[in-house]
Order: sequence, then C-alpha cells, then structure tokens
Amino acid sequence: MSTDQKPGSISGYGSGGVDSVISVEDVVRQAQAIAEDVTVEQLDALVGGDAYVSIENLRAGYGQMEILHDINLRVGRKQSLCLIGPNGAGKSTILHAIFGFNNIFSGKINIGDGPNKADVTKLSPNQKLSEAGIAYILQDKSVFPSMTVEENLWMGGFLKNQPAEAKQAAEMIFDKYPRLAARRKHQAKVLSGGERRLLEISRALVMNPEVLLVDEPSIGLEPRFIDMVFEILHDLQHNEGKTIIMVEQNAKKGLEFADIGYVLVSGEVAIAGKGDELLANPKVGQLFLGG
Ligand SMILES: Nc1ncnc2c1ncn2[C@@H]1O[C@H](COP(=O)(O)OP(=O)(O)OP(=O)(O)O)[C@@H](O)[C@H]1O
Ligand SMILES: [Mg+2]
Repeated sequence: MSTDQKPGSISGYGSGGVDSVISVEDVVRQAQAIAEDVTVEQLDALVGGDAYVSIENLRAGYGQMEILHDINLRVGRKQSLCLIGPNGAGKSTILHAIFGFNNIFSGKINIGDGPNKADVTKLSPNQKLSEAGIAYILQDKSVFPSMTVEENLWMGGFLKNQPAEAKQAAEMIFDKYPRLAARRKHQAKVLSGGERRLLEISRALVMNPEVLLVDEPSIGLEPRFIDMVFEILHDLQHNEGKTIIMVEQNAKKGLEFADIGYVLVSGEVAIAGKGDELLANPKVGQLFLGG
C-alpha cells in the first residue's frame, strides 16, 4: 500500500502498521480514480428480478446542501445490500433519505414489487415505519439507558394502535432471543455492547418491518459480538425474509454478508457488484479491505 501520506496523519483505513495508513482524503482521491460508469442495467442485473426497494435519480442532502448526486439503487425482496466507502461519502445519508430524515431535492424512492410498488419518497419517518414497513436501526446510542430492556422494546411499538400489540410483539422477540429475555427487567445501561446492539435491532423488529436499514452494525463491538450481530442479521434475512440495506465500515464483514455491494464515493455509486465479487476486486481490496 502507498505511504505517501502527510507526516502526522493518523486517520485512515489501513489495518497494518502506521506505515500503511492513508488519510481519508487519499482514500477519496484513489476511490474516485477507480470509479466505474455504473449503469442502471447493471444494478437491475445484480437484483436478478423485480426490485423491492428502488431509488431513482435521487438528489438529497441537508438544508440546501446536496450530498447525494443522482443516486440509483436496487435491492430485491429478501436480498441484502451493503454500502461501503470513505468517511463522508454519503452512506448514512442514503439510509436517512430512504427513511425520510433529510431533504430530497429530486428523484424517487419506491418500496414493494409488482403491483404493490409504491412511491414512498414523501412519507414521514413515522409513515415509513407504520405504513411502508421500513425500520431504521440507529448507529449506536439509541436505547433509553434508564429504561428496562422490555420497556425499550415496548417503545419500539409506539406507533401501534394498541399498546397490548407492542407487548405481544415484545414477547415474540423474547422467545426468539433468550439472551435478551434473561435481561428483560434490567436497565438498558447495564447491557454489554453486544446485548445493546441486539436490543437496538430487536426494537426495530417490534413493528415487524419488511425492510431493515442498518447503519454500521459492527461499530464499537468486540469481534465475538460482531459475529453475533451478523448471525442475527443473516437469520433475519434468510429465515424471516427481511430485506436489508446496510452501511458497514468493516467492508470485509459487510461484503461477506451481503448479496450486493456498492462502493459510494462523494455522493455517487462508484462501483457495484455482488458482495463476493467486490471482495475479490483488487481495487476494492486495496482501498477498503486493508490491502
Ligand atoms: N445532519 C447533517 N447536517 C448537515 N450535514 C450533514 C449531516 N449529516 C451528514 N452531513 C454531511 O453529509 C456528508 C455525508 O455524510 P454521511 O454521514 O452520509 O457520510 P458517511 O458515508 O456515512 O460517513 P461515515 O463513514 O463517516 O459514517 C458529510 O459531508 C457530512 O458532513
Ligand atoms: Mg455514516
């Protein structure tokens, strides 16, 4: 890996020693250099059928600032898509846009396949969750620390018509995850990092969503908990049929997990491929997989 970093630069992606660390700016420059012309036909081919979530020519950002430039995205029902790319590329912003957290200047977001395809671009986050079946799992620190585990789960059902429905859904989640059930009366703040991540994911499941938006599931976790989180997501995709769109800084884990991967650079899709193709792509490897 190149060592043309500025002296004193400490941020970077290299997993080796200090010599192999490159700065975020270098990563962006090099990633722009390897960007391909990604066509919509290519994105459709990766799905291999009807898309369940599709984004058409999306321009979105914060305030007046455009962060995402003409983004197209496709993922099929029960498929998983992982977004990787340098810090600030706009990965989280894509999830925000799908869930309705930011300003959309133009373009469209559709959910559903066949005759059920619906334009959800203008729905609020609450409508996304309760009507469109989309749940957003926050990047860390979103549980209520002083509430118990079960109270946190009930909060996940705050949009349900009857509080009893949320409690019922919580019981189903406790049946599925005994580890969480064992701690149901504990305050969330005493959970381990892995348990807390499990709680964050579970809380999103209370509304029984079809689509899970997951921002950096592995962040801040020790390796054994990272594996646990990916096993849980694998189960949700393959056994419960959820469609997953994930952002993951741990590109290796994310691409091993996902059916489809996009490399996002400066608000544009620079490379798209099957997860294992991107893993084997030397250009991706050099920049995002530690050489
Ligand atoms: N709430 C916000 N208000 C204004 N600008 C924002 C906001 N959130 C993000 N941005 C800007 O949008 C750009 C893209 O940020 P985003 O968080 O989507 O990047 P990312 O690819 O998820 O990066 P990271 O890997 O660091 O999480 C950045 O320039 C960032 O500063
Ligand atoms: Mg982010």
